[in-house]
Amino acid sequence: MEKYLELISDGLYRFRKGKLFIEEVCVERIYREFGTPVYVYSASYIERQIEKLRNAFKPISPLICYSMKANGNMGVLSLVKRAGCGVDIVSSGELAKALKAGFSADRIVFAGAGKTQQEIIDGLNARIFLFTVESMEELKAIEQIGRSQKKIAVVSLRINFDIDVDTHYYTKTSKKETKFGMPVDQIKSILSNRKKFRHIDFKGIQFHLGSNIRASGFYVQALEKLKGFLAGLNFMPSVIDIGGGFGIHYKNEQIEPIENFGKNICNVFLKNFPGVSMIIEPGRFIVGNAGILLTRVIYNKKTPHKNFLIVDAGMNDLIRPSLYGSYHEIFEAVRKKGPCVNYDVVGPICETGDFLGKDRMLAENLTSGDVLAVMSAGAYGFSMSSNYNGRPRAAEVFVSGNNVKCCRRREKIEDLWNLEKIL
Ligand code: LLP
Repeated sequence: MEKYLELISDGLYRFRKGKLFIEEVCVERIYREFGTPVYVYSASYIERQIEKLRNAFKPISPLICYSMKANGNMGVLSLVKRAGCGVDIVSSGELAKALKAGFSADRIVFAGAGKTQQEIIDGLNARIFLFTVESMEELKAIEQIGRSQKKIAVVSLRINFDIDVDTHYYTKTSKKETKFGMPVDQIKSILSNRKKFRHIDFKGIQFHLGSNIRASGFYVQALEKLKGFLAGLNFMPSVIDIGGGFGIHYKNEQIEPIENFGKNICNVFLKNFPGVSMIIEPGRFIVGNAGILLTRVIYNKKTPHKNFLIVDAGMNDLIRPSLYGSYHEIFEAVRKKGPCVNYDVVGPICETGDFLGKDRMLAENLTSGDVLAVMSAGAYGFSMSSNYNGRPRAAEVFVSGNNVKCCRRREKIEDLWNLEKIL
């Protein structure tokens, strides 16, 4: 536990006299005031991660387009915006939210394999920086909409290099059998026919290899492939967007530090693409370890086969363990004295796959009302949550120094049916 905390926290999470603190705030204060389940984010942590990225990639100073699908809370967005980042979006909903949070359109990149006509129109109207184009069909749709609106769309072509990264199958996005990007030959043919697309400005090339990648070698490999690919064409992009995916610690796993990612990527980039600008699209790296989920024990249930801590957060609040088998560290928010036993930490949802952690050693005497902290929950936590089993979504709060502010109120029971109608 100490090792993990040391790896993730830079001192921003620590136990003081057995109580978990985030920055200067004891989590006890948070769950007393806001109840559970509640997501808690550290403002300083987010700022620090952005700073780390800046330093790591200093030789190039890329535009950092925060991937807001990781955590689209307005509080997070406005903080990331104030820190000077742009944003990576995948829908008109995210576009509207990003604009509302104050991001300027010329720092917005729009990815996604299934942009609708309306989404293309919305992006054009907002004058976003780049559409990341993922298919020939999309390119044609953009050209056609550009023609009818008398507008030029600025695009980067997403290339699928068939690179197999070290992550869960569901979060690999650059294998040839995935729906993302276009194969090399198709990009080649588009570029050689680019004059035919009169309403498209071919500014960039993009790739996004996958998520939670632990080694920089994959990016280096992609950039080398890109170099080889471009060598045969009379085309040099003015922007290369290397996507997101930089991994974070969920436990004590081996991950190259971000300084290595920065150094290795910048080296190959500067060597092969002098004068070209770079975009990065990190999501998890910025917010993943900036957030935790606090949840209360409802029952400490013992059976002859297994001990269960049944808690008030379930797969509707944090789906990662159920969906990807992801590991999230779980601590007692206030450490209990006495022996530990082996538990499965499970939610109240009616599915066997509803668990937050399996085989965890936690205090034997944990009891109703005690609170657990599910760590590394800032990315793809709340943003993937749902109302499944009639459960209002959790509250979200921000900690900054000694201050605590709610940045999304807990959903009310009425919110469960407010958009519906009795027939
Ligand atoms: N850019 C694009 C085009 C993406 O599709 C993604 C993530 C990112 C950037 C940001 O990737 P990151 O830096 O956060 O790894 N729900 C999964 C992760 C899905 C990632 C989807 N795309 C999880 O909880 O692990």
